Amino acid sequence: MDKLLIRGGNPLTGTVTISGSKNSALPILAASILSEASLRIANVPHLNDVTTMIELLGTIGLDVTVEENMTLDVSTRDILNLRAPYNLVKTMRASFLVLGPLLALHGHAEVSLPGGCAIGPRPVDQHLKGLSALGADIRVEEGYVVADAKRGLIGTTIAMDVVTVGGTQNLMMAATLARGETTIYNAACEPEVTELAACLKAMGAQIEGAGTDTIRIDGVSSLQGAEFRITPDRVETATYMIAAAATRGQLLLKNTCPDQIKAVTAKLQESGVSITLGEDWIKLDAGVHDLTAVDIFTEPYPGFPTDMQAQYVALNAVSEGTSRVTETIFENRFMHVHELVRLGADISFEGNTTAIVKGVPRLKGAPVMATDLRASFSLVIGGMVADGETLIDRIYHIDRGYECIEEKLQSVGADVHRLSSR
Ligand code: EPZ
Repeated sequence: MDKLLIRGGNPLTGTVTISGSKNSALPILAASILSEASLRIANVPHLNDVTTMIELLGTIGLDVTVEENMTLDVSTRDILNLRAPYNLVKTMRASFLVLGPLLALHGHAEVSLPGGCAIGPRPVDQHLKGLSALGADIRVEEGYVVADAKRGLIGTTIAMDVVTVGGTQNLMMAATLARGETTIYNAACEPEVTELAACLKAMGAQIEGAGTDTIRIDGVSSLQGAEFRITPDRVETATYMIAAAATRGQLLLKNTCPDQIKAVTAKLQESGVSITLGEDWIKLDAGVHDLTAVDIFTEPYPGFPTDMQAQYVALNAVSEGTSRVTETIFENRFMHVHELVRLGADISFEGNTTAIVKGVPRLKGAPVMATDLRASFSLVIGGMVADGETLIDRIYHIDRGYECIEEKLQSVGADVHRLSSR
C-alpha cells in the first residue's frame, strides 16, 4: 500500500489549478445510462472513483472512450447487463446512482446494497422510498436491491425525510423518463444536484427548481446525447485554501468556483485569513494576521460542508484559542481526530458529534493512518504543519478524490513524497 511521507514546516506558496469536481462527475457519468446516444463529458478528474464508475458503466454494457484532457465519451452498446455488482458498489457508494437511470430506461435493475461505510451508516432508504413512490416494485434479494417497473415509472410527489444529495440525484434521474410530473420536496440544494440537472436538461430533460428545496421534473419519452463540462471541484478548492491557511501560506487558486464555497470562505476570513475573490480565482494570504480558532457546524448546502470539516479541524488545531466543531451530517466522521492527536493536537469530544479543539503552537510528526477521503487530507495538513516527518498510511483514500496530490502540493512548496509499495 502506498504511503505519503511529509516533512513539515513549508508554507504553501504559489498557484494551484483546480480539477473537475469528483462529486459532479460521478452522477453525470451515471446519467449517461439514461440516453442511447452519446454523452461527451469534459473536465473529468483523473481519480480512482472515476475509474470505478467507468468500470461499472463498462460492466453494465456502455462504451466509455477516454480522450485527451479527460474528456469522456459514453455511449450504449446493444446488450446491457442491468446489474451493478457488490465489488464495485462497496468500493464506491456513488455506484448506487446507477439504480434510478437503469430502472427508468430499462424497467429493471439489480444494484448491490452498499453496506458499511467508514463515516457512518449511510442508509439508502430515501432512494428506495422515492423509487417505490414512482411505481417501482422493490425488494432486497441476497444483498441486492432488485427493482422492477415493467410498464415504466409514473410521476408523483415525493417528500424526502432527510436532505440527501445522492437520493435527490437518483430520484431526479429516474423521474426524467417517468410518465407525468414529479415533484421532490426537501430536495438537496448542493451544486452537484444543480450540475446534474443542467446536464440532464442538455440531454432534453424538463427540470425546474434544481438548487432549491423543491424540484419539478416533467417526464419525457427519451433523452438525447449532449456535451457537458464538469465544474471545478469545490471541495478540492476549499481543501487547498484550508491547507494554505494552516501552513500560513499564500496561494492563488485558478479555474475555480468561489460562489460555491462561500461558507468556507467566510469561516477562513473569521479565522483571520485575507482572501480576494475573482470570477474564477481566489487569492489567499494567511501570513497577515495571527489565526484564531473558529466554531464549525456542518450543514447541508449552503451551510458549512461536512466534506470540509476534517480539514478545518486540522487548521483549528494550530490556531489560537478553543473551538467547537459539530458534525451533523454523518455519525462517525471524526476518525481523523484520533490521528491528529497522535501528531500532538489537543482535541477531546463532547458527546458523539462535537469535537473541542484547543489550539497548540506546534504539532510533531508521527506515523498516522488515513481512514477516509477527507480525513486523509486533514492528516496531510497536520503533517505539513508538524515539525519533523509524518508518514501517512492507507493513502488510497486520498487517491479516490484528490487529483495529482503530491505533484500539486510539491508545486506550491510542500515537502511531500509518495512511497510506492509496487
Ligand atoms: C454525498 O454523499 C457526497 N458524495 C459526500 O461526499 C458528501 O459528504 C455528502 O453528499 C453530504 O454532502 C458524493 O457526492 C459522491 P447524502 P451522499 O445522501 O449523497 C443520510 C466525499 O468525501 N441518508 O447527502 O451519499 C445519510 O446517512 C463524499 O466526497 C439517509 O438517511 O450523502 C447522511 O446522514 C463523502 N437515507 C445524510 O443523509 C438515505 O437514503 C446525507 O447523506 C440517504 C442518505
